[in-house]
Amino acid sequence: MNIANIKKTGLAATYKGAEILRQYFGKLTGVMKKGAIDLVTEADLEAEKAIIEVLHSAFPEHSILAEESGLNHKNSENQWIIDPLDGTTNFAHELGIFAVSIAFSYQNEIIHGFVLNPVSGELFTAEKGQGAMLNGKSMSVSSTEKISEALLVTGFPYNHPEIIDTIMARFGRCISASQGVRRLGSAALDLCYVARGRFDGFWEQNLKPWDTAAGMLIVEEAGGRVTDFSGNPYNIYQKEILATNMNIHQEMMNLMKY
Ligand code: IPD
Ligand code: CA
Ligand code: CA
Repeated sequence: MNIANIKKTGLAATYKGAEILRQYFGKLTGVMKKGAIDLVTEADLEAEKAIIEVLHSAFPEHSILAEESGLNHKNSENQWIIDPLDGTTNFAHELGIFAVSIAFSYQNEIIHGFVLNPVSGELFTAEKGQGAMLNGKSMSVSSTEKISEALLVTGFPYNHPEIIDTIMARFGRCISASQGVRRLGSAALDLCYVARGRFDGFWEQNLKPWDTAAGMLIVEEAGGRVTDFSGNPYNIYQKEILATNMNIHQEMMNLMKY
């Protein structure tokens, strides 16, 4: 595996996806529904197609897991995990909080993450063991010590009616314990903002692998901690994610108990 080539191609695919999202932003002609409130647009589909073309032409033998087209399994130890547009609801409402999120895994371990907001131009990247960067500059999580001084962020899954009690209980406890809770609408950016120290902690239930694959590595490489709500190591197929600056992790785990 040629790491430099993986990085170069991952970045090229991320920028290609972002270019397409920018072309469609504010100019959507139709918004379709995958579920009652789960939207998909021509921007999601076109960006995903273009990203896959870039990756596939460089690495035709790699597996690809992408939100809109599913798994293209190639019996390979190398896999790309793609969310072409994280924050579709924001995008459809012309709110500029959304991102392309691409991760690369080798033997099921995420080793590269790329998250780009096409509106702000912020590019968050990480490579396993090499730290996390914002637009090429090293970044780290906040040094906030206590939850009472923490700004938190969360999100609500599309199937929230089924689990609304657990969501609201945790939301209420976090509001009471912290300086505030935000809901931005892009899990990939939520994670990157924890990595950059803008938020001290993030939690959400029922996210999908493509929502968290790049962001979780970016948080860990920025010095943060990512687990499930009980403190077990997080993997991208889990239903619970808790990502913090490390210092407030135990306090947040206490707030997640149900
Ligand atoms: C969604 C966003 C949102 C989160 C949802 C995700 P999508 O991804 O990350 O913040 O709360 O659970 O599904 O559908 O916009 O790619
Ligand atoms: Ca997503
Ligand atoms: Ca998406």
